[in-house]
Amino acid sequence: MTFTSSEVREPESLVSRYDEVRSHTERLAAPLSPEDQTVQSMPDVSPTKWHRAHVTWFFETFVLADHEQGFTPFQETYWFLFNSYYEAIGPRFSRPQRGLISRPGAHDVGVYRGNVDDRMRDLVSSLDGGTLEKVAPTIELGFHHEQQHQELLLMDIKHVLSLNPLQPAYVEVVRPASSDAAGPDALGWVDVPGGLVEVGHEGSGFSFDNELPRHQVWLEPYRLADRLVTNGEWLEFMADGGYRRAELWLSDGWAKITGEGWRAPFYWSELDGVWFEHTLHGTWPVDPALPVTHVSHYEADAFATWAGKRLPTEAEWEHGVRHDGQEAAVTGNLANIDTFHPGAAPPANGRLRQVYGDCWEWTSSSYLPYPGFHPAEGAIGEYNGKFMSNQMVLRGGCALTPPGHARATYRNFFPPGARWAMSGVRLADGGVRA
Ligand SMILES: [Fe+2]
Repeated sequence: MTFTSSEVREPESLVSRYDEVRSHTERLAAPLSPEDQTVQSMPDVSPTKWHRAHVTWFFETFVLADHEQGFTPFQETYWFLFNSYYEAIGPRFSRPQRGLISRPGAHDVGVYRGNVDDRMRDLVSSLDGGTLEKVAPTIELGFHHEQQHQELLLMDIKHVLSLNPLQPAYVEVVRPASSDAAGPDALGWVDVPGGLVEVGHEGSGFSFDNELPRHQVWLEPYRLADRLVTNGEWLEFMADGGYRRAELWLSDGWAKITGEGWRAPFYWSELDGVWFEHTLHGTWPVDPALPVTHVSHYEADAFATWAGKRLPTEAEWEHGVRHDGQEAAVTGNLANIDTFHPGAAPPANGRLRQVYGDCWEWTSSSYLPYPGFHPAEGAIGEYNGKFMSNQMVLRGGCALTPPGHARATYRNFFPPGARWAMSGVRLADGGVRA
């Protein structure tokens, strides 16, 4: 296996971690009715119920099938329904049609989850030490896989609910008082000397294979914006004709926005001259102090061009975070049921703010293999490597990312036109020579 795993090998710790991750998925699904959980609002969105079943299928396929005595699938048909994209495992149901899977229902998926949970606990408790040592990294991959789907579940239900004519909230909350209308501090900059630096994961602790191997990169001196671009700044871009000026746009981006008629971020709508934003807590007036979110790479790039700046490369982002002393201390506005939305930047302190959480930050880097990258052997090798085409890297995590699932070397990726992810913008600039 070419994923890096942590040192968790004791059965009790593994079972406890397993229960923690699995129960969190069910907590996220709890506010949703079986009807909510069945809808697929566009090809990129999967029904909540499908996410709950697919992460269960992952443990059944990659752990139980190989190690459980006398293994038989819970339901053979589930391997067809809930395999996402693993060609080596076998045929699967069409992704854009997952919303047609009215049966099994949400309750049946819960029964499936319970069955696999019991078998996983039994397996972990019964394996000898040597076998557990071999199986533990795959189980740990299953935890991180399920956490990825916890974030996707929230992203996806946000889209589903946005198309309901009643625009219901996923969870009702008391709306926080409107933030300071003046917005956060003026954008500041953090200078980074550059030079021959290292990027990629190293040391103990989990990483996906696409974060490996750690390697050297040459960076010219540069600087990173000390916070994310705000809605207020985005409104200025729009008022200055940002969505109407071809000279600001990459060719593919211009074709996209003119073809689709985009004139604002994904979840924005205008009513009587006022912009509103759909969130997981309902539809609110756009708050100029909050980070802009749900913009595509094309929009992020056009904004940066309009501002006379650029997007950072992924190496600049990662090295900048490390240089700023924020590699180890992963804190920020990560998933928390009271927010599930990007928050205003804290007061300026001369360092990078909003590094983790709030919004995934678009970079100018294509999602490509690091030098020396090797996918794992077998079906699990399809996890990341085969998507290294026509996608851009995002860094940092967002307000839907589970705590414990963000790190400086994490490489998320989406096609440049995607904007249902909670994506935002941090600017970069040619640096001041140190
Ligand atoms: Fe998956």
